[in-house]
Amino acid sequence: MPQFGKRLSPRQISLSAAAILAVCIWLLAVALGRNWQIALLILTVSFILAYFIFYYFLKKFIDQRLKLIYKFIYDTKAGRKEQFFYNKILPKKTMDEVEREVALWAQKKNLQVERLQVNEKFRKEFLSNLTHELRTPIFTVQGYVHTLLDGAIDDENVNRKFLSNASKGLDRLVHLASDLAQITELESGTNPLVLTNFDLHHLVNDVYEELMLKAREKQISMKFKNDDKEAIMVHADRDKIRQAIVNIVENAIKYGNEGGSITTGFWDLDTDKTYIEISDDGPGIEEQHLERIFERFYRTDKSRSSKIGGTGLGLAIVKHIIEAHHQIINVRSKVDVGSSFGFSLNKQPN
Ligand SMILES: Nc1ncnc2c1ncn2[C@@H]1O[C@H](COP(=O)(O)OP(=O)(O)OP(=O)(O)O)[C@@H](O)[C@H]1O
Ligand SMILES: [Mg+2]
Repeated sequence: MPQFGKRLSPRQISLSAAAILAVCIWLLAVALGRNWQIALLILTVSFILAYFIFYYFLKKFIDQRLKLIYKFIYDTKAGRKEQFFYNKILPKKTMDEVEREVALWAQKKNLQVERLQVNEKFRKEFLSNLTHELRTPIFTVQGYVHTLLDGAIDDENVNRKFLSNASKGLDRLVHLASDLAQITELESGTNPLVLTNFDLHHLVNDVYEELMLKAREKQISMKFKNDDKEAIMVHADRDKIRQAIVNIVENAIKYGNEGGSITTGFWDLDTDKTYIEISDDGPGIEEQHLERIFERFYRTDKSRSSKIGGTGLGLAIVKHIIEAHHQIINVRSKVDVGSSFGFSLNKQPN
């Protein structure tokens, strides 16, 4: 018994249909009293004719339908290429091939939809985080300015304090705006890396000096793992790497314990890579936060509820900078022991 089902080829369908029709005509011929030779001739001729007619129209019908499907899945524009495809390639494709290609296409579309959904979720989260971050300082500034205008400006006991609070709110807004500008710039790639050779050891020392005042407020000491002043020559974007180091050291100061210390070490990863690690002996980061620490706006519960926490963009910027260099970034941390942030960089080529 031939299997009648979806796997039948157009040729088999035409054969079967022609056979059925030919047998019917033959039976009719016999019933009408034709002799067996004529009936046999009618059977043969009608079978052959029916087969070719069925096959021709069936193919034409299928090809038209397939063209429509291919038009959708390949978004082909009318033109010579399309004509060539329909005339030369499509007729050679088996139904199985077409089925496989359509399944692949569907899979690709599914992935695209999933990616769009993720992006959409990301966009929504970003907007809601941004709104939240903007709201607090704007309302702070608005509140103090209005209170001052309503008369507090003449009250010597509070006017300076209120102005200073309003100014802190503005500083926070400026900080947020500059962080956002950096992230956008890094994500859009509008500001390509400017690669030069420089001494990483020297750069960290510069950052230490820049942040000395902040560190001193908490009696935090900043040092190197090795005492020697050996130059660590790397090939990278100096300004951007400086920004990354500033963000990491600022965090180490901001979240570090009073009287603590920050230590930077350098290691040879392999012949052409250097690894830098900046460690503190601060409160550490709980394991559940570690994998999310580089996300935009992500802060741990502790810094969320305390006043010292920033906007949660600092480490996202660091990650962007290091990834733009096609390098790896890593964090190790243990609660009550400290945190270490490290990344690799290409050495200065010989
Ligand atoms: N050295 C560290 N020790 C302990 N916690 C840290 C340390 N560095 C980062 N964190 C935690 O990771 C979070 C994210 O850091 P990130 O620098 O991205 O944001 P932020 O410091 O809150 O804000 P911003 O840097 O934008 O001012 C911080 O809120 C803090 O909870
Ligand atoms: Mg930070």
